[in-house]
Amino acid sequence: MPGIIVVGSQWGDEGKGKATDQMGDRVDFCVRYSGGNNAGHTLVVDGEKYAMHLLPSGILSPNSTPVIGNGVVIDLGVLFHEIDVLTGRGVDCSNLKVSSNAHIITSYHRTMDKVTERFAGKRKIGTTGRGIGPTYSDKINRMGIRVQDLFDEEHLRQKVEAALDQKNQILVKIYNRRHIEADEIVEELLAHGERLRPMVVDTVRLLNDGLDEGKIVLFEGAQAHHLDVDHGTYPYVTSSNPTAGGACTGTGVGPTRIDRVIGIAKAYTTRVGEGPFPTELHDETGEKLRTDGGEFGVTTGRPRRCGWFDALVVEAAATANAFTDVFLTKLDILSGWDRIPVCVAYDVNGTRHDRLPMSQQEFAEATPIYEELDGWHEDISGCREFDDLPVKAQDYVKRLEELIGTRISGIGVGPGREQTVMVHDLID
Ligand code: GDP
Ligand code: IMO
Ligand code: MG
Repeated sequence: MPGIIVVGSQWGDEGKGKATDQMGDRVDFCVRYSGGNNAGHTLVVDGEKYAMHLLPSGILSPNSTPVIGNGVVIDLGVLFHEIDVLTGRGVDCSNLKVSSNAHIITSYHRTMDKVTERFAGKRKIGTTGRGIGPTYSDKINRMGIRVQDLFDEEHLRQKVEAALDQKNQILVKIYNRRHIEADEIVEELLAHGERLRPMVVDTVRLLNDGLDEGKIVLFEGAQAHHLDVDHGTYPYVTSSNPTAGGACTGTGVGPTRIDRVIGIAKAYTTRVGEGPFPTELHDETGEKLRTDGGEFGVTTGRPRRCGWFDALVVEAAATANAFTDVFLTKLDILSGWDRIPVCVAYDVNGTRHDRLPMSQQEFAEATPIYEELDGWHEDISGCREFDDLPVKAQDYVKRLEELIGTRISGIGVGPGREQTVMVHDLID
């Protein structure tokens, strides 16, 4: 009765959507457990491209029930738009289940996100501007609006008014923005609540009963280890726990029910937004990785910062999440280099570090120490077995496996569902 967690091991956009979709046909539930529509997960099925922001990637697998867990923050306008677009493309979204405890992103959260970023100037985080941080802040401050609040108008109005009493002071007095009326928020939320109501169930019970019956539950992470508010490159992080523990708190499924934790790692490294990134390439090499890999954000369209694979970054994620497997994506993008540098240690002011340094300051000052591996020139996008890969590509994978300390069970050789080399089954 497996519970399987998919976690990003770098700074997001590793290909979690593709890896999740890979298993979709064999899982009974596919659950988002953290983040919101800051996520952008791309799937390519039969040549058709889909971008998911709030819907679990399992929505494309007809036998899997898609679930949005309590740990997710939901922008209902975005959710319904996503459902409408997918339904228009022939995807059945009628089985979506949503937790009554999930928090709602409102327009004042989006506004707060944007004004605080603008106000921060050079100190900005580079958020997606989707209201994620302010919504999680309200949750922790015990003044959030939850899905269940949408079904009682009076109660909802009281909560929105209480939140706006505070927000309006800040918006008007500090940021010189217009006062937001409770009525406009409440009306929109009530309308959305009506549409949402049939999807709302006790997702904790649903998932635990499913596991009791031997069903397979896949927990689809958004963001990544190094964007985690506890474990990431704070303060340049998101405001939730995308790490494996977040799958338990974000769904109400206990840790003893988790059998596999699959870390998704890109064969090189990318990052969107601000924050330290030791292997970042500011030259034409980075530009080539960006162009070859199509490294532009699915959510905001921003160019992603690109650099070589950083083994310390992924090893740290493997340790803190207890990865059982790694799914390595985009190996095909590395075809065509004579030599491929891989970061195996850092130099921090003259001291060598073989593991991620303890402090953020040291991490920000780290200079990568590279090991140069032989590259390959063949197009590998048609490979389906490990032995089909050129020997140098096999050696690259084996060396990363050693450095991360976790077996690499799947290798992405293209964006398509079928463009995968499976080394070990991810479910059994
Ligand atoms: P996610 O946020 O982790 O789901 O990743 P994104 O969808 O934001 O970014 C990953 C990008 O790489 C998407 O455009 C995917 O279609 C693409 N992709 C995923 N795996 C592979 C792969 O193995 N090879 C190639 N060439 N593209 C891939
Ligand atoms: P997926 O699921 C890459 C980054 C933002 C910013 C920081 C905080 O597609 O991998 P936020 O809006 O969350 O407050 O922004 O986190 N970020 C992501 N980067 N992929 C994502 O999601 C991200 N979600 C947030 O760029 O640096
Ligand atoms: Mg993404």
